[in-house]
Amino acid sequence: MSVVVEESIRDWEKRWEEKRTGWHENNVNQNLIKHIDWLTKSEDGKRKKIFVPLCGQTHDLLYLLQLGHEVFGIEAVHECIPGLEERDGLKFTYDQETSVYQTQDGKLKIFVGDFFECPIENFGPFDAIWDRASFVAVAYSQRKAYIEVMRRSVTSPNGKAQICISVSNINSDFDLCVFVNF
Ligand SMILES: C[S@@+](CC[C@H](N)C(=O)[O-])C[C@H]1O[C@@H](n2cnc3c(N)ncnc32)[C@H](O)[C@@H]1O
Repeated sequence: MSVVVEESIRDWEKRWEEKRTGWHENNVNQNLIKHIDWLTKSEDGKRKKIFVPLCGQTHDLLYLLQLGHEVFGIEAVHECIPGLEERDGLKFTYDQETSVYQTQDGKLKIFVGDFFECPIENFGPFDAIWDRASFVAVAYSQRKAYIEVMRRSVTSPNGKAQICISVSNINSDFDLCVFVNF
C-alpha cells in the first residue's frame, strides 16, 4: 500500500471513530433515485450486478438490494459494518481469507480493505458502477489508479456497463453527475 493511501485510510478511520461523517446522507441519494433506470437499464430485463466503490454506510446499498440487484461494495473501515447491520436489519458473515462480509443470500458483499488492493476481477464483472462522493474522496495522485480499478471491474468479453459518478452534497447546491457508457 502506498504511503498516501495508508495515511488517507488512517484519516478515514479517525473520521469514522470520531463520527465526523459530514458526507453521509440520511436517505438514499437523490441522484441515484433520479437515474436508477439509466443505471440499471437492460435489454434482457435481468437484475444487475452493481459495484458501489467506497461505500461507507450509504443507504444506497439497501436501496439497490431491495430493487433486486446484486451489490458489491468496498470500504476500508470495518466499523461501518455493525452500523449497517443495525440500521438496515442486515446480517453479515465475514470471510477473513477474502476480507469479504456477505449477507446470507450473497446478494450484498462488502470487501473491507483498501480499494486499490481489492482483487476486483474475482467479484465482477459488474453491469454498473454507482459512485457517489467516492472518486472525489480519493487523492488526486490516486485518481488514475482508481479509474483503472473501475475499468477492470466492468470489463468482460462482451460486456457493457453504465457508470454514474455523482458529486452531490446535502450541504450545498452543487450537484453534478457524470455518466459513462462503457
Ligand atoms: C466520502 S465517503 C463516501 C461514502 C459513500 N459513497 C456515501 O455516499 O456515503 C468515502 C468513503 O470511502 C472510504 N475510503 C476512503 N479511502 C478508501 C480506500 N482506499 N479503500 C476503501 N475505502 C476507502 C472511507 O472510509 C469513506 O467511508
